[in-house]
Amino acid sequence: CGIVGVLGTHEVSPQILDALKRLEYRGYDSAGIATLNGGNLERRRAVGKLVNLSDLLVHEPLPGKAGIGHTRWATHGAPTVANAHPHAAGPVAVVHNGIIENHRSLREELTAAGVRFASETDTETIVQLTAQHLAQGLDPVEAARATLARLEGAFALAFLFQDQEDLLIGARRGSPLAVGHGEGEVYLGSDAIALAPMTDRITYLEEGDMAVLQRGAVTVYDADNRRANRAVTHIRLDNLRVDKAGHRHFMAKEIAEQPSVLRGALEFYSGPGDEAPCLPEGVDFAAAGRVVLVACGTAYYAAQVAKYWFEQIAGIAVECDIASEFRYRNPVLGPRDVAIFISQSGETADTLAALRHVQGRVGQVLSVVNVPTSTIARESDVALPIHAGPEIGVASTKAFTAQLLVLALLALRAGRDTGRLDADTLAAHLRDLAALPGFMAQALDRGEALRDIAAELGEARDVLFLGRGPMYPLALEGALKLKEISYIHAEGHASGELKHGPIALIDQHVPVVVMAPRDALFDKTMSNVAEVMARQGQVILLSDRAGLAEAGPGIAHGLAMPAVPDLLAPIVYAVPAQLLAYHAAVYRGTDVDQPRNLAKSVTVE
Ligand code: G6P
Repeated sequence: CGIVGVLGTHEVSPQILDALKRLEYRGYDSAGIATLNGGNLERRRAVGKLVNLSDLLVHEPLPGKAGIGHTRWATHGAPTVANAHPHAAGPVAVVHNGIIENHRSLREELTAAGVRFASETDTETIVQLTAQHLAQGLDPVEAARATLARLEGAFALAFLFQDQEDLLIGARRGSPLAVGHGEGEVYLGSDAIALAPMTDRITYLEEGDMAVLQRGAVTVYDADNRRANRAVTHIRLDNLRVDKAGHRHFMAKEIAEQPSVLRGALEFYSGPGDEAPCLPEGVDFAAAGRVVLVACGTAYYAAQVAKYWFEQIAGIAVECDIASEFRYRNPVLGPRDVAIFISQSGETADTLAALRHVQGRVGQVLSVVNVPTSTIARESDVALPIHAGPEIGVASTKAFTAQLLVLALLALRAGRDTGRLDADTLAAHLRDLAALPGFMAQALDRGEALRDIAAELGEARDVLFLGRGPMYPLALEGALKLKEISYIHAEGHASGELKHGPIALIDQHVPVVVMAPRDALFDKTMSNVAEVMARQGQVILLSDRAGLAEAGPGIAHGLAMPAVPDLLAPIVYAVPAQLLAYHAAVYRGTDVDQPRNLAKSVTVE
């Protein structure tokens, strides 16, 4: 969820709405705003995307110079108006990002005390508790503090109080929250990007902080309720304007711009006048015991590809895990391990929690992020930017390939640090990477042929994706992309594992997308393709010309990909995987950029 608060000098609901637009990547199940209208708390809330709230505000405007707003990704309670934030009880309204883990016991306690709840949310326990504290005679700051002391879980909150035109209270525990300083105005926001149109002067709250905002003063209290000095930083936010550049969807634009995105990222990692990128600085794998890669979703599949690279190129053992699993399985960590966290947004709660879990237990904490001001970037020893620019489509595309590029550079750096990679081979790999934008452009051109094949996928009930070696995680990513935006059931499998179970799914109605560049494992993959065809599975083979020729007849469809160096294959083959999902979703008429039930960045565990 995304939260925002404004103590303004003019009407604040347009400002809040604009900030919420920038936070919609955190969820779009419902949205709402509360303001003080002549001292009285008033709310407008609407189910679904933000546009529904802005339509509502046209008919029922919300005056006021102080307000809070929220865009929701539902956790407790269905996406209904009653469950939409802001929640209010008597003289207080609250917006909340995160989860209150002891909400059940709080609800029981409050219900026993005669409180009637209006929603099914965990958030309402916060407002009800605060209202109780206010009724007991506490002032708003004391009431908020007393409430915070009762809450368990990870969250960020903003409080607005009736008749308190010059007061907003923010609290941060586990979930990020930033204070913005304007001209006679102050703001609260889940991230600096939300506040960017209003100010570039930002204070990031720290763990356990409570901030008391007035137009003329911001006072921050730390977890021990002592006044704390938190620095004001000036942020640079280039590239804030985002549009579809003539494409029908952001996702189409983001797929198409991968050659230029990767060119930009390569330039960032190159010295002036260099033809090939250089190895990332500030990191050192010479003494690395292991590399530990942790991420969620698409970023996790980038991590899985990188596992092959680190092992093969650098000879370093790699542990690769999903953030939500990693943290709770007591992973064995050593002081020489290098932990790498991969996250487009840099705000994913599971990944952040995993990062905090390793701090102090490993040698170095690196992150590979798209948003350099994000919490994950700020909390890691070294943050390596992927320079993909804003990614708006909820299904990640260009961030994935840019993550892979930076991970490839890191694996090469590791190869040099461990001495496993000789100078000539290293130089050849770097030259290959320099050629990546050209190969991406070729893959995009050829991908146009996928439109018709994608329409067939659009008719399917189940689709399988297969790959071997670093193409196995690509198969997982291809399946994830398809299910995310077309809602077709899809599974990715290691080609060699098919026969151990998933082959039972295959019949003449099941398309099987095989990602098989003509590499050392090609023949083995072809044996698996034969097993599929023997059971009437419809094989869609993505390979280079030599590979397609070798596969021979019996393939339902083949797509001729450019012949690429092994290192580049997982990056270049991401393009047809993305295009298949995109065209299948367009064929089915789904909401490509904001698919149901998902959020771009999930800020709850
Ligand atoms: C969400 C998104 C996924 C994304 C994952 C990790 O679940 O829907 O597309 O891959 O989070 O996000 P991150 O920002 O950490 O890369």
